[in-house]
Amino acid sequence: MKIINIGLVGFGTVGSGVVKVLQKKKKGLEQKTNCEFKIKAIADKDINSPRCVKVSKEILTNDVDKILNDPEIDVLIELIGGIHPAKEFIIKALRNKKDVITANKALLAEEGEELFRIAAENKREILFEAAVCGGIPIIKVLKQGLLANKIDSLLGIVNGTANYVLSKMEENNWEFEKALAQARKEGIAEADAALDTRGIDSRHKIAILAQLIFDADIKLEDIFCQGIEDIRLEDLRYAREFGYTIKLLAIAKSFKENTAGVYVYPALISEECLLSRVKGAFNALSLKGDMAGELFFYGKGAGMLPTASAIVADLGEIAMSTVHSPQSTVSKTKLEIKKIEELEKSYYIRFLAVDQPGVLAAIAKILGEQRVSIASVIQKERKEKEIVPIVMMTHYAKEKDIQRALREIDKLPIVKERLAVRIEE
Ligand code: HSE
Repeated sequence: MKIINIGLVGFGTVGSGVVKVLQKKKKGLEQKTNCEFKIKAIADKDINSPRCVKVSKEILTNDVDKILNDPEIDVLIELIGGIHPAKEFIIKALRNKKDVITANKALLAEEGEELFRIAAENKREILFEAAVCGGIPIIKVLKQGLLANKIDSLLGIVNGTANYVLSKMEENNWEFEKALAQARKEGIAEADAALDTRGIDSRHKIAILAQLIFDADIKLEDIFCQGIEDIRLEDLRYAREFGYTIKLLAIAKSFKENTAGVYVYPALISEECLLSRVKGAFNALSLKGDMAGELFFYGKGAGMLPTASAIVADLGEIAMSTVHSPQSTVSKTKLEIKKIEELEKSYYIRFLAVDQPGVLAAIAKILGEQRVSIASVIQKERKEKEIVPIVMMTHYAKEKDIQRALREIDKLPIVKERLAVRIEE
C-alpha cells in the first residue's frame, strides 16, 4: 500500500481535527484509497498544551523547516491562517515538490494567482476544500461534479457568524451586539469579528468560488462588499411583515457572454426561498447550472470535524489521482465585471424621520424625481418622541437612481437615520 507522508503546520482546533479523523477513519480511508496517510511531523508554536488527540512527542516540532525541507514529506497541510508566513511556507513546500492542502481563504483570495502559478510550474496541487463552507464539498462539486455546466448563478450563505447573528436577532429579539457576543462565545467568529460582520470573509470565499465558476481571475476589488452592521432588530421584524427575512448573501451571477457580477451584501429574501430557512451558524449554497438545473447544498461551514472532513477529502483526492494535472494550456476567461451600479433591484428602505406633516411627501418626491417607484409603504408607531419609522418597498429601479435618490434624501434634515437593503428575487 502506498504511504502518503503528511506534514501538518498548525496544531489548533482544525489541526487536531485532522489528526482525529485520520486516526478514527484509518481503516476506511485505506480501503477506499489504497493509501496509508501518515502524519510524519506536526509544527506549531505551542507543542506542549494538551490537545484532544494523542500523538507521539517525536513528531512535534517548533521548526516548520523540518517539514518544508523533508524530502519524504509528500503533502503540506497548512492550517495557520493569515497571509504571512503561510504564503512563504506554501511556496517553499511547492518548490520542494510537495502538494499543499490549505484552509486559508484569505490567502487564496488575495494571493491565489501567484500561488497557483508556482504550483503549476512545480507540477504540484494546491487543494482547498476546507477554505469555503467547511463540511460542504462545494469545491469538488464545482471542479468535478458540475464540470459540464455553465453556472448561471450562485447565491450563498457562506459566513456562519453573520448568519448566526441575524438568526439570533430574529429568533430571540436580540440586538446585533448581543448576538455577536454570543457568536464569539460559540467560537465561530474570526479573531477579528469585523471580517465576518463586514462581509470580508464572505468576499474571500465568493472570490474563490467565482474563480472556479467563471474560470477567470477575480480581483477582490471587483467584488462589491457590504456587511450587516447597520441591520437593526426592527428591520428583521419589518421584513417579516412583508414575508421576507434578511441574510448576508455572497452572489456570483452570469450575465451576457463573459460578463459576470460578484457581490456580497445583506438582502431581503422571501420566506419561501430555501436559503431563508438556513439558521444559526449553518452555510448553504443555491446554484443553477445550465445542465444540472437548480441545486442546493446545506451544512456546517466551520468547526473542527466538518473542516477536518474537507481536508481529509483533499488527501483522498491526492491519493486517488494518478497524475498531477498538467499546467493548463488554455488561457483563463477574460471576464467583464458587472459593477453593482449597473444592476436593477428592488429595495427595502427604512427611514427614521421627524414625525411632522409633509415628511412622507418629501421622501416620495425625491424617489419619484429619480424614477424610483414605491411598491408599498408603511409608517410604524413612533419610536421615540417625534421620531417615526417609515418602511418602503420599491419596484425595480436602476441601482444608480436609487443611490442618487438616497443621497438626496440623506440631506433632508427631517431624516435622522436611513437603511436600504436590496431585495433578492
Ligand atoms: N468565521 C467563519 C464563519 C469561519 O463564521 O463562517 C468559517 O470560515
